[in-house]
Amino acid sequence: MSILDKHKLIETNATLLLVLSLLVVSIGGIVQIAPLFWLENTIEKVEGMRPYTPLELTGRDIYIREGCYTCHSQMIRPMRDEVERYGHYSLAAESMYDRPFQWGSKRTGPDLARVGGRYSDEWQADHLRNPQSVVPESVMPKYGFLENNRIDGKYVGDVMATNAMLGAPYSDEMVDAAQADFLAQADPDSDYDGLLERYGDAINVRNFDGKPGVSEADALIAYLQMLGTLVDFSTFTPDASR
Ligand code: HEC
Repeated sequence: MSILDKHKLIETNATLLLVLSLLVVSIGGIVQIAPLFWLENTIEKVEGMRPYTPLELTGRDIYIREGCYTCHSQMIRPMRDEVERYGHYSLAAESMYDRPFQWGSKRTGPDLARVGGRYSDEWQADHLRNPQSVVPESVMPKYGFLENNRIDGKYVGDVMATNAMLGAPYSDEMVDAAQADFLAQADPDSDYDGLLERYGDAINVRNFDGKPGVSEADALIAYLQMLGTLVDFSTFTPDASR
């Protein structure tokens, strides 16, 4: 009996086919699922990751509210064309404090996962106000109203407390100081020592939209300017053993 004849036996016997298929599928399932029970952490810990500052977190909420994700992804795939265009491929850890994540599946515009620091604040403000003023062929809508919407960060502490409940490492101190830190980050003349102490020395403290007071544009630009800048890829080596 050749090997093909043996296979005929399976094809003509429904019960045998069912039992053997079940066996194959369960082996495949176990191989995929079982390791997760023994891994201490499914997300590799990466140096440099920190939770968003109150101003950045507000900017992120505006990004979601305005539906920026309908045209922009935030996930660089490990393929050569993407890595050459956008930079190091995205790590799971880089979206560990994102609820909901902003990976996205639509790229009418470019991926924004590493847009932080690529342009000046002024460029970002001009681009949001009128994208065609800096990129004439752009189809991106205008968001000029953002710089006219003043915000005071009154409720950002509540948003942080909610994120803390879901696992973001915001301490009580961070939540209590939320509004003060929110205002300090957009005002380089303020006393922002506390902000740096809580979130690290690398925080951008600037008047992002170039106008007095804190606007939604300030928050959104603060968010855009930190995207993809937290992990230092000159020192990062992927840990394949996890
Ligand atoms: C209708 C689709 C669309 C929407 C919605 C949209 N964009 Fe864009 N965006 C684009 C396109 C197309 C470009 C590329 C041309 C340009 O630079 O304007 C772009 C470019 C950008 C860039 C420059 C990226 C780079 O690497 O050059 C940034 C930053 C940006 N968008 C931010 C935003 C933000 C923030 C929002 C939400 C407030 C938003 N976009 C909403 C289509 C969109």
